[in-house]
Amino acid sequence: MRKPIVGGNWKMNRGTPENAREMLDELIPKVKEMKDVDIVIAPPFTALSVASILKVTNIKLGAQNMFYEEKGAYTGEISPLFLRSLDVEYVILGHSERRNIFNESNELINKKLKVALSMDFIPIVCIGEHLEERKAGKTKNVIKEQMEGTFKEITKKEMEEIIIAYEPIWAIGTGETATPEQAEDAHIYVREILTEKYNDNTANRVRIQYGGSVKPHNAKKLFEKDNIDGGLVGGASLEADSFASIIKAAQETSN
Ligand code: 13P
Repeated sequence: MRKPIVGGNWKMNRGTPENAREMLDELIPKVKEMKDVDIVIAPPFTALSVASILKVTNIKLGAQNMFYEEKGAYTGEISPLFLRSLDVEYVILGHSERRNIFNESNELINKKLKVALSMDFIPIVCIGEHLEERKAGKTKNVIKEQMEGTFKEITKKEMEEIIIAYEPIWAIGTGETATPEQAEDAHIYVREILTEKYNDNTANRVRIQYGGSVKPHNAKKLFEKDNIDGGLVGGASLEADSFASIIKAAQETSN
């Protein structure tokens, strides 16, 4: 049985320690009894110091990106070693905003992924298609290509540590959520590819989150689907009330 996992990707919001703390002070008591769901928040780098208040809670800390080198002349980049020193456990890689705005390729994400795994971070790897690609019937081709490139030379054992976030780009920040059926179909296809590349057992172990306008009113219907193991949440993760309701939906639909 896969334990659902709900992540809050704060993107470029709540970036001061005070601003992040304010939200977490409200969130922590609301979710402290929710043991059947893994909870992660990924604030901006500048607010990762909230690690100290998360230590004694059931909320884990994630980073939104990471570079593949440990140190050197890489202006503006963040080393995996720095993240480790801040008690970061999860790292989001290949978010569509990184792919589209910062031109991150599958090859680059694959390089980062290998380093993240070698340093025992739990990677949350994002994939997903553009609206034009969906309209042209190319959703599966895009998913396949992204998975082939991003998971190149990743072993079976490593794959089982990775969390995949299926985030159709047309649903991100638009309020237009994929229907539970659309999301489920994509997740089933992701598992088919994992079966082809590894085996059934691995395909059944990997947790696949759905991301793209997950809100309190639609979370439960999405998470009820057999192959949707929680969500990666943007906008609705910025406020404690809405994020806690989404976490509760995952808790209620677990097992
Ligand atoms: P929204 O929930 O704001 O659509 O963002 C989704 C997302 O990109 C999470 O990584």
